Amino acid sequence: MKNNILPAFINAGKEENGLPPLREVFKEYFPIGVCVNPQTLQTHRHLIIRQFSSITAEDEMKFDRLQPEEGRFDFTEADAIVAFARENGLLIRGHTLVWHNQTPEWVFLDKEGRPAPKDLVLQRMEDHITTVVSRYKADIKVWDVVNEAVSDREGYLRVKSPWYQRTGEEFIRRAFTCAHRVDPEARLFYNDYNAAVPEKRDRIVRFLRDLLDRGVPVHGMGIQGHWTIYDPSLAEIEEAIEAYAALGLEVQITELDVSLYHWSDTGNFKAPPPELLARQAERYRQIFDLFRRYRQVITGVTVWGPADDRTWKDNFPVQGRKDWPLLFDENHRLKTVLF
Ligand code: GLA
Repeated sequence: MKNNILPAFINAGKEENGLPPLREVFKEYFPIGVCVNPQTLQTHRHLIIRQFSSITAEDEMKFDRLQPEEGRFDFTEADAIVAFARENGLLIRGHTLVWHNQTPEWVFLDKEGRPAPKDLVLQRMEDHITTVVSRYKADIKVWDVVNEAVSDREGYLRVKSPWYQRTGEEFIRRAFTCAHRVDPEARLFYNDYNAAVPEKRDRIVRFLRDLLDRGVPVHGMGIQGHWTIYDPSLAEIEEAIEAYAALGLEVQITELDVSLYHWSDTGNFKAPPPELLARQAERYRQIFDLFRRYRQVITGVTVWGPADDRTWKDNFPVQGRKDWPLLFDENHRLKTVLF
């Protein structure tokens, strides 16, 4: 427990011990990114600038943030993130244009509050994509265009999505085509979780192949990577990378974290158990070894948060449960040597 006595000192020691920052460690392989928000840009500023070469807005570029009411765009927070990237020479992944979550209800309703007709919904989607992609054309060259359209367990597509409900499959093709029209140079991604689970992976492969066969401009597969110390297996991750690459797509790991719990485990550690941290460290090492082996295919790896003191897995999916899923601990020290 000595480690907890002088965190600031130990932290300084680590940084000055000559441990190179991650962006240097992975320089010859792929950009190493982190998701940020207005709060962590303050509280984790040093860590973000020193360690990473790319950032993703955690929420600030989602539909509801950018266009809360029809025609009323608010770019304040997204612009601040882009300015931060510019000042510090960081790449930006655009996240995310079309998703069933964090999209305002007005998109799907007409003026009387009834379900809006298909054409109106598609028009609104294209207006949104056009405005957002053109605004950031100089700074954002990779976009998650469609997020999570494939169903998790049964069936094929996520039919309960309001996009699907109002437009059927058409929103998917139209979203990619529109983004490509606005910025023909941007690399356009489909992004999803459980993308290394064999049944869902096969559905996603079918989905992507269908888009490619129709000539839809999809360039990459975003494997979110919300994983745990238990699963998916390394072999499953590798098979997934292979399967997406076999379609001729580039692959990015877009939202990596490694939980210490099974998804809905109701256990609740007061502090991270050392044996689980050791397991996590080893898993991170193995995962990054694998990513490095696939450097020809993997064009980016992003972790879903800078450090364990504030993570999206705290209280989710189990209320009151603290998690420690990230690469840096609560004192902003790297938890494992990755290379
Ligand atoms: C999905 C989204 C992310 C984020 C996470 C939860 O993976 O793609 O933007 O909202 O859920 O934090």
